[in-house]
Amino acid sequence: MKIIAGRSLASWYFSWPMLPSRRLRAMTEAVRSLYDRNRQRGDAPWCGLAYDFVCPSMGTYPFQWFWDSCFHAIVLSHFDTNGARTELRSLLAHAQPDGFIAHVTFWQRERFEALLSTYSIAYRTPYLSDCIQPPLLAEAVAAAASGPGGGAFLAEVLPRVRRYYEWLHEVRDPDGDGLIATLQPDESGLDHTPKYDRYLGIERCALPDFTAAWQRVAGPYAAVGRDHRAMFALDRFVVEDVLVNTIYAENARVLAELLQGAGDAVGALQWRRRAQATAAALMAKCYDPSAGLFYDLAGAREEPLRVNTVSSLLPILLPDLPQPAVEGLLTHLTNPAEYGAPFPVPSVAMNEPRYLAPSAESTLVYRGPTWLNTNWYISRGLRRHGRPDLARTIEEGSARLVERGGFREYYDPTTGRGFGASDFSWSGLALDMLARLEEHAA
Ligand code: GLC
Repeated sequence: MKIIAGRSLASWYFSWPMLPSRRLRAMTEAVRSLYDRNRQRGDAPWCGLAYDFVCPSMGTYPFQWFWDSCFHAIVLSHFDTNGARTELRSLLAHAQPDGFIAHVTFWQRERFEALLSTYSIAYRTPYLSDCIQPPLLAEAVAAAASGPGGGAFLAEVLPRVRRYYEWLHEVRDPDGDGLIATLQPDESGLDHTPKYDRYLGIERCALPDFTAAWQRVAGPYAAVGRDHRAMFALDRFVVEDVLVNTIYAENARVLAELLQGAGDAVGALQWRRRAQATAAALMAKCYDPSAGLFYDLAGAREEPLRVNTVSSLLPILLPDLPQPAVEGLLTHLTNPAEYGAPFPVPSVAMNEPRYLAPSAESTLVYRGPTWLNTNWYISRGLRRHGRPDLARTIEEGSARLVERGGFREYYDPTTGRGFGASDFSWSGLALDMLARLEEHAA
């Protein structure tokens, strides 16, 4: 790397005040180079298919993760539409006949066997996990379908995308209330979030305790052959998760638009209704008006998990959220004691007893630091609800985090220092947020 007066060219470039368009170009180039470094390409002898995707981070996550790949496709759609489509083709390559799509595809697992021993993962096959992740596939497909050739791409992938959402609807909402359920903590993507601590019986905030808790859930599942009905019946970990369902509702809405565009008015109506049903159920069952927050529901008895985390704020994304609920969320979001940090939005309210500032020692995730994927959702919600001022603060803050500290997995909300994996791909969402910031400033 080129060095100017002892500093890298990248840090020099980013630290100068720049015209907005130059700033956006610099961010685009930084993301392009990151994605080139993290790109995985090859042939997989186990299935006879070629793969081509951007992995989350070469050091810790070299495989294809579901929601990461969806975020990557959204980012790629800014500068490499073909790359965005290729990313999703690899993700969809192992969509199962019933619709299920694994949360990790271990395309090149032989090269990383040592790393695999550090993961707690339920396998469907040695190459596919047996879990879901937050379902933002429709949004990713919509982004990748923009531009020339988008219609053909949609025609190619839409049947599998639709089947995936039908599977979620049929298999993951056994009580039919419009809210899909997760069956283990990693299905929310928020693996170690403190909102599950009590439910999982976690006392100490240390990785072995989480691994043991995960085993307590996954062990009995293995004993029943990981059959969905049996797993639900065990009632070990059944969570109607606010973040997962907010993303599900948004994607049901986007799926309806995609179906409408493809001429399937009946399917579009059905998914529009499902989107509304999920949003209504979030409001009716998860919103606590006295707290002004949304809470996950746990177990067959649907006990609210009353922990104030970023999940509780995610429904700001829902376009039809009633105004009192919007106001409630804004009060928390802007409170300096909770989420109004210098580098918002922390993943746990800073005044929660279980809030944990990031440290180089801890590998636990979603217990306090700021993550750019949740920032991406919240800032979009703020624009939908007429608060571009607050959206700008988050978008600007997210871009600055990357400009100062590079693409890290998460950041200290107070100092902005980066932690966790380096060269972490979905932090490239800073590009989408910066583009939005400039689009609305114009
Ligand atoms: C961690 C995160 C999960 C993410 C994965 C790869 O397991 O909790 O959300 O998908 O890393 O980045």
